[in-house]
Amino acid sequence: MKVFVPLDSAAVALGADRIAEAIVAQGAARGVTVQVVRNGSRGMVWLEPLVEVEVDGVRHGFGPMTLADVPGLFSDLASHPKAIGPVEAHPWMKGQTRLTFARVGVIDPLSLDDYRAHGGLVGLDRARGMTRAEIVAEVTESGLRGRGGAGFPTGIKWKTVSEAAGDQKYIVCNADEGDSATFADRMLMEGDPFCLIEGMAIAGLACGATKGYVYIRSEYPVAIRVMEAAVRIAREAGVLGAAFDMEIRVGAGAYVCGEETSLLNSLEGKRGVVRAKPPLPALQGFLGRPTVVNNVISLASVPVILAKGAAFYKDFGLGRSRGTIPLQIAGNVKYGGLYEVAFGLTLGEIVNGIGGGTASGRPVKAVQVGGPLGAWFPPALFDTPFGYEEFGAKDGLIGHAGLTVADDTVDMLQMARFAMEFCAIESCGKCTPCRIGSTRGVETIDRLARGDASALPILTDLCNTMKFGSLCALGGFTPYPVLSALTHFPDDFARQREAAE
Ligand code: NAI
Ligand code: SF4
Repeated sequence: MKVFVPLDSAAVALGADRIAEAIVAQGAARGVTVQVVRNGSRGMVWLEPLVEVEVDGVRHGFGPMTLADVPGLFSDLASHPKAIGPVEAHPWMKGQTRLTFARVGVIDPLSLDDYRAHGGLVGLDRARGMTRAEIVAEVTESGLRGRGGAGFPTGIKWKTVSEAAGDQKYIVCNADEGDSATFADRMLMEGDPFCLIEGMAIAGLACGATKGYVYIRSEYPVAIRVMEAAVRIAREAGVLGAAFDMEIRVGAGAYVCGEETSLLNSLEGKRGVVRAKPPLPALQGFLGRPTVVNNVISLASVPVILAKGAAFYKDFGLGRSRGTIPLQIAGNVKYGGLYEVAFGLTLGEIVNGIGGGTASGRPVKAVQVGGPLGAWFPPALFDTPFGYEEFGAKDGLIGHAGLTVADDTVDMLQMARFAMEFCAIESCGKCTPCRIGSTRGVETIDRLARGDASALPILTDLCNTMKFGSLCALGGFTPYPVLSALTHFPDDFARQREAAE
């Protein structure tokens, strides 16, 4: 009997380890030989722990599993109370275009043979027969843009590094996934680590870099363990070696280390303070050498581009947002999880269609897109298609594609205050608009909460100063959640004022 139980952190937090042990014990008690594969998550978080039993080559899902549901896996599966049928046929899975996450949840994450059997290493093999310029051209032509949030064209960044002078260059993967409602990087590293390794090896070939680092946040112990094991396996198999080798480095808990220059400082063993740009990391990055800093998903999207060609990837998407995006749907939502799809669905289709509306059953009041520094979108803007420019045109950003859904009980003044407080706590302290502005922002919103209307122009002034005067995105983007809350939900800011009058 072959059974899949996710090793994914979300599944483990919901009891997957105990379920796996119980399945083995139950099999032993019944004299049934059970092979348990610890796979990645399929992304249907509301069904975790989602156990799959393979019958005649078809994987049948059961979730959310409890210990009491385990014995039922050894009798009539069709009548199991947690049966969801064949996993691949589930509407959540069928509606997706899984290019980057094609193998996540499907394979044994630490089996290189399984990885190869599911199309792995085809892109790297092809890249080995290409020149540096050809690889860069293929990635540029695919239209891939930085999935960390800024959306800078990946091929152009690689070209800068490839053409930069330097005897030593580096590929640095930013896996310091600190935004609220984001978990795509973690899921990819836990569920398909060789995909990231392959993407980094291709980046190394394209840029002439022989060394890579993955900077993973310390809050991701499973991802760290899986990535470290995968690097060892890839090295033993010759996938990594003299031409390109890599190491896993663990962060120390600062949100700002997700910003590329402060990440580089941290990687060098220094305090995680933001560096002024220029010089760009592409020219003077890690240890002052030309460095590609790319997000996990940007790099993990490269193998499929090399394997299937730029035209294949570019065919998906909308406008200047090409390919697919792993949406991470979270907060007060009925069906939370990861859903990879071509750019272009509207926000309403994502929140109400895929997400099924709120978990509380109350009306959706707003959705924050792009992490704690992203703008709040009211239902009136739910016709906005998911794309970099389309969200920018509505004073928002897609960021790392995390969505936090809130129902009508949420007080948007408090959400605005939270954004300022978050910035005050996480600020690296290097520049004044962010270091001082965020603390003044909390105080100003507190004045509004007490009914002091004269604080309103001060708040908008302060937001403008932070937006245009901050050195990095932490201070520069904090005004997005604040001003969007103010613009779309003025009543939440006026209520206390009216009460005071
Ligand atoms: P940026 O726009 O300054 O740069 C984007 C990337 O392109 C950087 O890696 C930069 O070094 C590179 N780049 C720019 N010009 C280049 C050139 N000519 N050649 C080679 N490389 C070049 O954005 P930054 O400061 O890196 O990030 C800000 C963005 O981060 C925001 O737009 C926001 O959407 C996003 N963000 C993401 C968060 C997350 O946790 N994922 C959190 C907050 C913001
Ligand atoms: Fe540091 Fe904030 Fe300035 Fe960024 S905006 S450099 S986090 S003080």
